[in-house]
Amino acid sequence: MALLIRNGEIVTVGSRAQADVYVENETITSIGRNLEAPPDTEVIDATGKLVFPGFIDPHVHIYLPFMATFAKDTHETGSIAALIGGTTTYIEMCCPNRNDDALEGYQLWKSKAEGQSACDYAFHMSVTKFVKETESQLRQIVADGTPSFKIFLAYKNFFGVDDGEMYQTLELAKRLGVIVTAHCENAELVARLQEKLLAEGKAGPEWHEPSRPESVEAEGTGRFATFLENTGATGYVVHLSCEKALRAALEAKARGVNIHVESVLPHFLLDKSYAERPGVEGMKHVMSPPLRAKHNQDALWNALAAGSIDTVGTDHCPFDTEQKLMGKDSFVNIPNGIPGIEDRVNLLYTHGVKGGRISLDRFVDAASTRAAKLFGLYPRKGTIAVGSDGDLVVFDPNHRGFVSAKSHHMNNDYSGFEGMPIEGRPSVVTVRGKVQVREGKFVGERGRGKILKREPSHF
Ligand code: URP
Ligand code: ZN
Ligand code: ZN
Repeated sequence: MALLIRNGEIVTVGSRAQADVYVENETITSIGRNLEAPPDTEVIDATGKLVFPGFIDPHVHIYLPFMATFAKDTHETGSIAALIGGTTTYIEMCCPNRNDDALEGYQLWKSKAEGQSACDYAFHMSVTKFVKETESQLRQIVADGTPSFKIFLAYKNFFGVDDGEMYQTLELAKRLGVIVTAHCENAELVARLQEKLLAEGKAGPEWHEPSRPESVEAEGTGRFATFLENTGATGYVVHLSCEKALRAALEAKARGVNIHVESVLPHFLLDKSYAERPGVEGMKHVMSPPLRAKHNQDALWNALAAGSIDTVGTDHCPFDTEQKLMGKDSFVNIPNGIPGIEDRVNLLYTHGVKGGRISLDRFVDAASTRAAKLFGLYPRKGTIAVGSDGDLVVFDPNHRGFVSAKSHHMNNDYSGFEGMPIEGRPSVVTVRGKVQVREGKFVGERGRGKILKREPSHF
């Protein structure tokens, strides 16, 4: 069935206009005023609403064996939560660990999503070691439509790569035109500081941040940038959390390094005092890089407004209360991660746009368009144009509500953002022309999501 969205204000990067959007066979075929609705067209009245391109979350974990447990969502639960929150595409980190075979890992991650996700999806392929078969395996994965890699400088002996492996990955990425995303913390320093703090009897969640201080992240970011500089590869720092690391990335950019920056929802809205809350409340707010001192948030918002932070993701990584309690005797055993896939768009709109921190244009760019451009999805995704997929978010700026685990759809028993007010939410969300969400409810087709094949573009 065709779809016509009438009378909304269409917002894309660089343009705002009152118009109708018509979608046929999954694709936008016309945009204009007073478009006709042929028979058998589903018509949605968007009067008084904003119409955004479907939002893209460039950093999520759905299937994740990590820290002796598994993240809680499936692609079914995670994608429904994503859609209710306005995210129509996510890019999942495919994370086999150092002992796993990369190609088998890639097939496993794909099998978890296939036929399960209600929204479209893609992967960043983690390179967690570099051995003799790695190059040919990565070439196969890129040829399969996954031209973005992920490396971890943290998580020693599990996901983490050493400098030699980072060099080999970046050198190959440059030849293949692949962008490399990176978790930038110095693994050795984290291990030493954890040991030292535990030896001093400092075992609560409040010691997680001191075990991975800002300088440890700034060092990782600076080192990644130096390796980019010397290989010519294009890089993307994930979940950058603090001003010191930001400075390292921006200094590199200023000297011509091809480096892009993502920050994630928790780092804009939560600070380290959340992880200092007693008991399990603190544990719920343990992630890496950790929540930081509050002053960092101003630096992140300002850089986001200026466009020097490119994207806002979530690093959605749901572990429930029982799993968080695995770390009750030592912060090093608290599974790292905070869920947020459902909350990103609403909270970014509320605190960013309504809060006067970022323009509406930058909001669309950071939450959709820039990720589409960096990761080979544009203009299929990330904009509203003839020929683009019919992924649309009819957004009601007058909705008022608040975030709560009682009403969210993520498979998790708490929210890191519990009680935060929201001003605006998606009222209709479509994926390739099919209505998947109405007024906070999933009304669509489970398993509709498709894997998005992409081409390398960072030569
Ligand atoms: O704490 C986090 N960020 N958990 C997920 C794994 C990662 O580092 O992205
Ligand atoms: Zn990470
Ligand atoms: Zn992550």
